[in-house]
Amino acid sequence: MPSSFAAASPRHLIIPLLCFLSAIPSPAVAAAPPRGYYINCGATKEESIDGIPWIPDEGFVNGGNVSKINAPGILPLLSTLRYFPDPKARKNCFVIQVSKGSKYIVRTTYFYGGFDGGKEPPVFDQIIDGTRWSTVDTTQNYAAGLTTYYEIIVAAQGKTLSVCLAKNVNSSSGSSPFISGLEVVSLENSMYNSTDFSDYALSTIARHRFGHDGSAISYPDDPFNRYWQSFIDANPVVECHSNISSPEFWNFPPPAALMNALTTSRGKELHVNWPSFDLPDTSYYIALYFQDNRTPSPFSWRVFDIEVNDKAFYKGLNVSAEGVMVYGSQWPLSGKTKIKMIPASDSPVGPVINAGEIFQIIPLGGKTLTRDVIAMENIARSFTNPPPDWKGDPCLPKENSWTGVTCDVNGSFARVAVLNLTNYGIAGVLSDSMGNLTAISNIWLSGNKLTGEIPEMGNLNELASLRLADNQFTGPIPSFLAKLPKIQEIFLQNNNLSGPVPESLKNRSGIDLRIPQGNQVEI
Ligand SMILES: *[C@@H]1O[C@H](CO)[C@@H](O)[C@H](O)[C@H]1NC(C)=O
Ligand SMILES: *[C@@H]1O[C@H](CO)[C@@H](O)[C@H](O)[C@H]1NC(C)=O
Ligand SMILES: *[C@@H]1O[C@H](CO)[C@@H](O)[C@H](O)[C@H]1NC(C)=O
Ligand SMILES: *[C@@H]1O[C@H](CO)[C@@H](O)[C@H](O)[C@H]1NC(C)=O
Ligand SMILES: *[C@@H]1O[C@H](CO)[C@@H](O)[C@H](O)[C@H]1NC(C)=O
Ligand SMILES: *[C@@H]1O[C@H](CO)[C@@H](O)[C@H](O)[C@H]1NC(C)=O
Ligand SMILES: *[C@@H]1O[C@H](CO)[C@@H](O)[C@H](O)[C@H]1NC(C)=O
Ligand SMILES: *[C@@H]1O[C@H](CO)[C@@H](O)[C@H](O)[C@H]1NC(C)=O
Ligand SMILES: *[C@@H]1O[C@H](CO)[C@@H](O)[C@H](O)[C@H]1NC(C)=O
Ligand SMILES: *[C@@H]1O[C@H](CO)[C@@H](O)[C@H](O)[C@H]1NC(C)=O
Repeated sequence: MPSSFAAASPRHLIIPLLCFLSAIPSPAVAAAPPRGYYINCGATKEESIDGIPWIPDEGFVNGGNVSKINAPGILPLLSTLRYFPDPKARKNCFVIQVSKGSKYIVRTTYFYGGFDGGKEPPVFDQIIDGTRWSTVDTTQNYAAGLTTYYEIIVAAQGKTLSVCLAKNVNSSSGSSPFISGLEVVSLENSMYNSTDFSDYALSTIARHRFGHDGSAISYPDDPFNRYWQSFIDANPVVECHSNISSPEFWNFPPPAALMNALTTSRGKELHVNWPSFDLPDTSYYIALYFQDNRTPSPFSWRVFDIEVNDKAFYKGLNVSAEGVMVYGSQWPLSGKTKIKMIPASDSPVGPVINAGEIFQIIPLGGKTLTRDVIAMENIARSFTNPPPDWKGDPCLPKENSWTGVTCDVNGSFARVAVLNLTNYGIAGVLSDSMGNLTAISNIWLSGNKLTGEIPEMGNLNELASLRLADNQFTGPIPSFLAKLPKIQEIFLQNNNLSGPVPESLKNRSGIDLRIPQGNQVEI
C-alpha cells in the first residue's frame, strides 16, 4: 500500500463519530434544505436530521441487505446501513433521477459498526456512472472511532446518475461492500466551472475554514451542505467584521466559512502548510478564499502575492472586505503542500487567508452510447429476474459491466457487443429494444425461461450468432433472420415456435441453422 494513501488518507475526509453533524445549530428559520437527495441507507422511514429530510434507500437500489448498528449515542444516519453480500454481483448501484447536464455534489458516508461480525471494515471500490471513483478503505478511521465520507462533483451525463459499490482485487473473500448514507445535491452552474465536467470530475481532498478549531460547518451555513472543516495552526487568527456576499463568488462559499482568517504581522510572509497530509502526485483544482477582516472602508484592503510550493500562484492579489477567490484549475501537487503569501513591500498589514478547497481532478472513464443504455434498461425491465447487478452503466467500468454483458469501445463510446446469459434461469420476455443494440455480435440466451415472440432485430448488422434454444418462445420464426448480413448461426431448438421456416432463410447458405423437433415448425 503506498504510504501516502495509508497514513494520511488524502482521498477522504474524516469526521468524529459523535459530533458528526451535531454541532450544527438546528435551523429555526432556515432556508429550504438544498435541492437533492439525502438517502439514509437501510432506514425504514423518513427522518429529519438537523433540518435535512433523510429518506430510506428503498427504490434507489436493487438487492442488498440491511443491518442495524447498535452503539450508544450513534447518530441516526449511522444507525443503519445497507450491505451487498452477493459475491456474483459485479457492482451494486444506487440510481438517482437527475437533470441532464446539471452539476451535483455527491457524498457517500461509511460507518462500519461491525455489522458483519468482523473487526475490520471491508475494503472495496466506489464507482460513479462509468468511472471508478476511489477505493473505500475506512479501516484506520474506524479503528479511531471515526466516520468516513467521500465527496465528488460531477455533471449528470443523462437523466440518471449511478453510484455503485464493487468488490476489488483487495477485497477479502466473503466481505460485503456497505454504505451508510448517500447524498446528491444540486449545485449552481457557476460553481467550479473552470473544470470541463464532460471529461472530468472533482473529488474532494480538503475543504477548510482557517482560523477555527472544533467541528465542521455545513447546512444551513452552507446552502449546498458542503462540509467546511476547521483548520488552525500556529499563525495568529483574526475575526472578520463583515460578511461576504456568497453569490458574488462563483463557488458560493458561505460567509461563515470566511469569518476567521490566519494572518501574520506586518511585513512578514504568511506560510500555511495545508492540507496537513501528503497528496498523491497528480493534478488538482485549488480554490483559496480571502477577506480583509477590518470594518469595510475605502482603506480596508491589502495586497500580496501567493505561491504554492514556491511556484507563483497569483501576483498582486488585492484583498478587500468584500473578499476574493483565487483558483488554479489544474495545479500539480505531490506530497506536502505549502501556501505562501508574500506581502507587497508597502503593505501596512500582513496577508490573510480565510478558507480553501482542494479537489483531485478525476478523468471520466468514458460513456456507454445512450441508445445502448436505454435498450439495456428496457431489456432488464422485461426480464422478471435480471441479474442483481443489472443497474447503473451496463458497460463501464469495463471490469464492472453487467453480468453477461461485454462491450467494445467504438470511438468515444462503449457499445454492447455480447449478451450472454446462457443457462442463467432468466424468465420474462425479450424486449423489442433488442433491435436497437446495433453493435451487438453475439446474443446467447439459450437455456432460460423466456416467453413471448422473438422481437424484430433486422437492424443488427453485426449480429453473427443468435442462440435462443431451450426457452419457451412462441410465435413465428421471424423472416428478418435471413436479412442479417453477418449471421452465421441461429439456434432456436426446443422452443414453442410455430409456422414455417421462412423461404428466404432456407435459401441463405453458410448458416448453422438449428430448428429441430421441439418446435412445431414445418420445414
Ligand atoms: C490493491 O492493493 C495494492 C497494494 O496495496 C495496491 O497497489 C493496488 O492499487 C490495490 N488495488 C486496488 C484495485 O485497489
Ligand atoms: C440477504 O437477503 C436475502 C434476500 O432477502 C436473503 O436470502 C439472504 O439470506 C440475506 N443474506 C444475509 C447474509 O443475510
Ligand atoms: C463561470 O461562471 C461565471 C459566473 O457565471 C462566469 O462569469 C464565467 O465566465 C464562467 N466560466 C466558465 C469557464 O464558464
Ligand atoms: C454575518 O452574518 C451572520 C448570519 O447572518 C450574522 O449573525 C453575523 O452577525 C454577521 N456578521 C457580521 C460581522 O456582520
Ligand atoms: C485595492 O482595491 C481597492 C478597492 O477595493 C482599491 O481602492 C485599491 O486602490 C486597490 N489597491 C491596489 C494596489 O490596486
Ligand atoms: C463504430 O461504429 C460505427 C457505426 O456504428 C461504424 O461505422 C464503425 O465502423 C465503428 N468503428 C469501429 C472502430 O468499430
Ligand atoms: C457465453 O458464456 C458461456 C458460459 O459462461 C461461455 O462458455 C461462452 O463462450 C460464452 N459465449 C460468448 C459468445 O461469449
Ligand atoms: C430504438 O431507439 C430509437 C431512438 O434511439 C427510439 O426512438 C426507439 O423507441 C427505440 N426502440 C425501442 C423498441 O426501444
Ligand atoms: C405451444 O404453442 C401451442 C400453439 O401455439 C400452444 O397450444 C401451447 O400451449 C404452447 N405450449 C407452451 C408450453 O407454451
Ligand atoms: C429461394 O431460392 C429459390 C431458388 O434459388 C428462388 O426461386 C426463390 O425465389 C428464393 N426465395 C426467396 C424468398 O428468396
